[in-house]
Amino acid sequence: MVMDAGRREPHIVAVINQKGGVGKTTSAVNLGAALAQAGKRVLMIDLDPQAHMSLHLGIDPDSIEHSVYDLLVEDGGDPSRVITRIDDNLDAIAAETDLAAAESELASNPNRNELLREQLSSILPNYDAVVIDCPPSLGVLTLNALVMANEVFVPMQAHFLALQGVGKLLETIGLVCNSVNPDLQVTGIILCMHERQTMLAREVVSDLEEFIESSRDQDVPWRACRVLQPPIRRNIKLAEAPSFGQTIFQYEPGCHGANDYRQLADDVLSGWDPSKDQTATGSTPVDTKEAPCVETPSEITPTDPDRDRVESA
Ligand SMILES: Nc1ncnc2c1ncn2[C@@H]1O[C@H](COP(=O)(O)OP(=O)(O)OP(=O)(O)O)[C@@H](O)[C@H]1O
Ligand SMILES: [Mg+2]
Repeated sequence: MVMDAGRREPHIVAVINQKGGVGKTTSAVNLGAALAQAGKRVLMIDLDPQAHMSLHLGIDPDSIEHSVYDLLVEDGGDPSRVITRIDDNLDAIAAETDLAAAESELASNPNRNELLREQLSSILPNYDAVVIDCPPSLGVLTLNALVMANEVFVPMQAHFLALQGVGKLLETIGLVCNSVNPDLQVTGIILCMHERQTMLAREVVSDLEEFIESSRDQDVPWRACRVLQPPIRRNIKLAEAPSFGQTIFQYEPGCHGANDYRQLADDVLSGWDPSKDQTATGSTPVDTKEAPCVETPSEITPTDPDRDRVESA
């Protein structure tokens, strides 16, 4: 394991979109797992009271004594008490549904937005990357992620209304940056459940790229943003993996979804250190221009390992 030269703090990525069901948790879990497979020491943090990241990682809420809630509401204590080891290079801080109470419990605490960063500061040097899964809202939990993070990734689906929502989200992040974290940058859009062959998806991606380009010379926190590659195709294995409490690399490492997230991790690593050749995840280079970006039964061949699942889905 090699830390990026001269870097003492990890890359801290908040995965945010206030719209629900766009692929935040799927992306946080599988991108984080791909980074760990690439040899990075990764900490995943579940900041969503739905606890979907924890469930996706196979953490049984009854088996853990401490969760992210304790970090936010208890003053002090060893932060390692909340860490669950998932795999080599991969640790997680789980959430439980009691996290929903944190919002009101912290209302009178003037320091409420800095709690996560303060509580974890002593263990951050143990990691190369921290990936935070946020709830689909912009309350105190998401603010804790924005204060702690140095980067934001926004998963979205290429739909017209989603594009409008992302514009609003970026404006909100701009306001947050002005008040609580001026160094925060929105660096990546992750296209999720992508259906590249539809006219709508092509138009939305083109509008998105135009919007990003028009921001390059403005003093906004998304001026360095890019659409991360490749888009993540709709893949039934990605939807099945959480119910087995497994990342896509544990559940079906050869499927399109696993390959897309491996390549996404390569792209993220290239952005973090452009001087290095990023093939560390062992991803098979795929010409995304040729590969189908959505699986439909007509595209499933008899030898496709996804065939049975797709047909039975
Ligand atoms: N590429 C994909 N292909 C197929 N299904 C997917 C894909 N990405 C996500 N899903 C499924 O879509 C649903 C929503 O995804 P996910 O839970 O990651 O979204 P989310 O933004 O975290 O939702 P929430 O806002 O509720 O936290 C889940 O059932 C997930 O398994
Ligand atoms: Mg989620």
